[in-house]
Amino acid sequence: MPGPKSSFLILLLLSILHIACDSKAKYADRENAESDYYVIPKPSEVTPQNGAFHLNNDIAMAENDQFSNEINLLSGYLKKDFESEISTGEDGLIQFSIKDSISNKEGYELVVTPETIRISGGSEQGIFYGLQTLRQLIVKTNDGDLIIPSVKIKDVPAFGYRGMHLDVARHFYGVDDVKTYLDMLALHKINTFHWHLTEDQGWRIEIKQYPELTNTGAYRNGTIIGHYPGEGNDNERYGGFYTQEEVKEVVQYAAERHITVIPEIEMPGHSQAAIASYPFLSCFPEEKTIVPNDLMSEAGKELQANGTPKIVQESWGVYNDVYCAGKDSTFTFLENVLDEVIPLFPSEYIHIGGDECPKKNWERCPECQQRMKNENLKDEHELQSYFVQRMEKYINSKGKKIIGWDEILEGGLAPNATVMSWRGESGGIEAAKQNHDVIMSPNSYCYFDHYQAEDTENEPLAIGGFLPVEKVYSYNPIPSELPEDQTDFILGPQANVWTEYIKTFDNIQYMTLPRMAAIAETGWSKTSEKEWDDFENRLGKLRKIYDGQNYNYATHVFDQPKQEEKN
Ligand code: ACM
Ligand code: ZN
Repeated sequence: MPGPKSSFLILLLLSILHIACDSKAKYADRENAESDYYVIPKPSEVTPQNGAFHLNNDIAMAENDQFSNEINLLSGYLKKDFESEISTGEDGLIQFSIKDSISNKEGYELVVTPETIRISGGSEQGIFYGLQTLRQLIVKTNDGDLIIPSVKIKDVPAFGYRGMHLDVARHFYGVDDVKTYLDMLALHKINTFHWHLTEDQGWRIEIKQYPELTNTGAYRNGTIIGHYPGEGNDNERYGGFYTQEEVKEVVQYAAERHITVIPEIEMPGHSQAAIASYPFLSCFPEEKTIVPNDLMSEAGKELQANGTPKIVQESWGVYNDVYCAGKDSTFTFLENVLDEVIPLFPSEYIHIGGDECPKKNWERCPECQQRMKNENLKDEHELQSYFVQRMEKYINSKGKKIIGWDEILEGGLAPNATVMSWRGESGGIEAAKQNHDVIMSPNSYCYFDHYQAEDTENEPLAIGGFLPVEKVYSYNPIPSELPEDQTDFILGPQANVWTEYIKTFDNIQYMTLPRMAAIAETGWSKTSEKEWDDFENRLGKLRKIYDGQNYNYATHVFDQPKQEEKN
């Protein structure tokens, strides 16, 4: 005979079982709404079923060391998105597995029934995307219950490269902000973070062999006020940088979210912060840095008056003072910098910039001209190509590949380079025709520093342009004029966030959300499956996660009448 204590325990167990059965029964036959299945980016195949899984606090995830990263992430999302706790146990009702039959490592299958949730992936990365989808499928019922509609989903991305860039040089965002940015990317299944680390206006990564890069180059003595060319100088010292330990922390955080970090170390242009730190890098170390319209800060002027000609740039734009292509010491410097950068980043790519390098200094520099003679280079474009090819050889010798902006086509493309096409698509098309890999980032569709409204009066100051979500969404990374047999050279799309006018991380979120959702679907979903009205509906649901995460997003697309209301 069981004693009173054990009777009590049996009763308790039965009642817990009863509650669990009740909760299952409550949603076992639920007829789910179309909107319950809204997910961005749109999955390849969604097969809705009747019934729903009730996500209550008794639910456990199957314990599995292999997937502890994914289990921890899902627990974190549920906590933050829905204030819901989930435990782990040996026989959890949420189960992860790798499935050999899923050939794409980013692919996954998600099966939800009232009894269980199973995510199978081509790899841990696929499982991670499965749980991002799962996160978006959670519905809060009128009773306040969290449920997941029964469904079978099979999903693979259309493009293997899905990138977002961030310029941390014009304005600087600390490690916590960068991590939040990575969380935003992860939600949208974006797998590459292009980290623009060096510029005229600031050098942002610690290089131990060259401490002046951050002592001097990470700070400017002021910034122009207002839109270029500006209405004055704020005379405020501004800057910051990431230590190598912080870089490792960011790279690790990204890796947990299956995001590759590609560092950009700009050359030969956009290099005034490096030149201010080490003037020998310039063709003319004695010549003073110029701030357009005579808008240099008082501290900058004082430095120059006291015999320091080079300062970190305080205005925006493109400048003639670039790395000297004639002196071997420039290449030694850059190689030494890369020797410290490369081990920090597991990425197969290093981005070397290559955009907007005026040739004026090279034209009048005896050493650059001597280099052209020695190397039989017919003009300064070929000198730039020599520069990029020499650096490519070095980077290749370290087991990495280069990416450069489309200007690296000028004067002849480096043999193994990937081209990032930003001045429209023509650079990308040309590179693909030369059998080079391409990332498509044309400024008219992919520049998130552009305005989101035609009437800019109530918008935060931006660089210009008009790029609403609809236009981002309409982009097809495969140019129609590219011959069929060359389309495989298009690795995928990327959106860029230049930050001349984006001073705060709050504003980064405003400029990127919800446009990030549009570029994400452009990279993940087949172009033939994309449909604006449908996307707009789904965006209304994704917004709830933005709210849960406290993201600051632009609301133009939500405020405007929907297509059917307009008709
Ligand atoms: C660029 O926007 N200058 C690449
Ligand atoms: Zn020179």
